[in-house]
Amino acid sequence: MKSLLIPAALITAISLAAAPKIEQRPFGTADGKPITLYTLKNKAGMEVTISTYGGAVTSIKVPDRNNAFADVALGFDNVAPYISTTSYFGALIGRYGNRIGKAKFQLDGQVYEIPANENGNALHGGTIGYNKRIWNAKDASTPKAAVLELHYLSPDGEMGFPGNLDVTVRYTVDEKNGLQIEYNATTDKPTVLNLTNHTYFNLAGAGSESVLKHRITIRAEHFTPVDGSLIPTGVVQSVEGTPFDFRRGNVIGSRIDADNAQLKLGKGYDHNFVLDSPVSLAQWVVKVEEPNSGRVMEVYTDQPGVQFYTGNFLDGSALGIGGAYKFRSAICLETQHFPDSPNHPNFPNTILRPGETYHSVTIYRFKTEQ
Ligand code: GLA
Repeated sequence: MKSLLIPAALITAISLAAAPKIEQRPFGTADGKPITLYTLKNKAGMEVTISTYGGAVTSIKVPDRNNAFADVALGFDNVAPYISTTSYFGALIGRYGNRIGKAKFQLDGQVYEIPANENGNALHGGTIGYNKRIWNAKDASTPKAAVLELHYLSPDGEMGFPGNLDVTVRYTVDEKNGLQIEYNATTDKPTVLNLTNHTYFNLAGAGSESVLKHRITIRAEHFTPVDGSLIPTGVVQSVEGTPFDFRRGNVIGSRIDADNAQLKLGKGYDHNFVLDSPVSLAQWVVKVEEPNSGRVMEVYTDQPGVQFYTGNFLDGSALGIGGAYKFRSAICLETQHFPDSPNHPNFPNTILRPGETYHSVTIYRFKTEQ
């Protein structure tokens, strides 16, 4: 008997030490091309699926305080809804995340125009952003973590942006229930860029009625107010005494319908928060807590801002894995440079020049509390 037990223990040890594996399966076709869905797992059972269409995160399965797993990212089970949606579910966003006012900007004295896709402005990279592109994927897992590397070459002049932009995005699921997104990009002409990810989270589970009972803490003393078409006015305003003060944590729904001009313009929260500097990956900048499940999400980033968006444009028409995705049934926390920075010299710089490498990292880490 003993001699049988030893090999069994050895096999267990070997399989525990083996490199994490990424599984893949067909997800449908786009433009006649096959789209693949990759599943990244860790030993604790966390699972994240990512589609080569739009580089979109289509599900994130994490435990609650009783170790019951739920999918906390709004998504769909095949590529078709991702092709037709205008809500950017889970997608990679580029070349310029959020809005560019009047869909144009100047760089080194030259004017560049983007095809406008919202009220005369460019939203999330223009009419066909990175969320509608097919990304090349390869398994770049290490002995410690499942890593999916996505690559997209955005040609010179695509959506009006100058320069061939070579973009690599690495998704990692680590052993501490973190989903890390690392962005790298180089260009052969000066350009502007602002890369982010547009996952909608509901920690009670995708398809839950509302996100308004979630509690959120945002380490931001300032935000950037917007005009009627959600373009920043250029002002950097203190959150003190406003419904935008989340420094000590607040339930999202507690002030969302307050008599506040900015909340009315956004139909809720849809604003860029200026993260307290120095911004570093060492401590979280946003923490979200869902009281019933005990699920907690911490956001870490090296970016100067985060777009806190309460799903005010969701209307229940999208039927996903979790059901109908209704008004304010999820939040996005899009780590980013500030919207419309190319037209606001007082905002942090978003220009990338040949010879430079754009690099940024964001981590969504899932935990539980009692
Ligand atoms: C961002 C914007 C919102 C909205 C969503 C996509 O969060 O700030 O106004 O456009 O993307 O629906």
